[in-house]
Amino acid sequence: MNLIFLGPPGAGKGTHAQRLMSELGIPQISTGDILRKAIKNETKTGLEAKRYIDAGQLVPDEVVINIVKERLQESDCASGYILDGFPRTVAQAEALDTFATIDAALNLSVPDDMIIRRLSGRRVCLTCGYTTHISQMNGNDVCPACGDKLIQRKDDMPETIQNRLSVYAAQTAPLVEYYDRKGLLRTVEGTGTVEENHAAVRKALNL
Ligand code: AP5
Repeated sequence: MNLIFLGPPGAGKGTHAQRLMSELGIPQISTGDILRKAIKNETKTGLEAKRYIDAGQLVPDEVVINIVKERLQESDCASGYILDGFPRTVAQAEALDTFATIDAALNLSVPDDMIIRRLSGRRVCLTCGYTTHISQMNGNDVCPACGDKLIQRKDDMPETIQNRLSVYAAQTAPLVEYYDRKGLLRTVEGTGTVEENHAAVRKALNL
């Protein structure tokens, strides 16, 4: 199954993609995680991407399109994948159509005030991509998946969250209509608990 997870920043795309990845045995391909790893490793792509990500702006289309195109050629994608955070512009979606066949685009819908609460408390592991919320950590900042330190992302600062929401509305929200027109859109309210939302995600995908 080849899936896209759509939705504003903080909607829970990564949370549910990670769960579904282990349940279905297909990889989660998060362009945000790939770019953050490139920044951490100070690669050429990472150095180029950093200023956009820190400001809450989108990285140029050609950079992320090439990343995804190459990643989908790896053997673990042969029986399916979850694209988390890609495509994010109509140009990216049109490019994706030239090298992939998508079965469904799952759209998680969450209001802005809830997004701001979730993102301001989010903590992530830059080594393995594990994501949690301070309310779940009991003061422990060690990643339970790989043992590295859980940190706050630079783009989860309040002013950058606002920028990301504006960028989402202007550049990514049109993809909801794009996939609706293709008959691939499945929208889920992402306002419940993680368990409730995950059950709704599975139901929307007929799993
Ligand atoms: P990216 O990493 O993709 O960020 P995003 O889309 O803004 O999404 P987030 O990771 O912030 O949120 P999420 O929906 O995954 O929510 P999560 O599950 O973590 O991209 C970052 C940057 O990279 C972009 O701004 C851009 O610069 C660049 N980039 C990436 N892809 C690009 C592309 N295609 N083109 C151009 N540039 C690109 O959940 C959030 C928090 O809420 C967590 O703490 C979680 O524990 C908590 N939570 C989740 N669900 C629930 C729930 N039901 N109840 C309570 N808490 C919950």
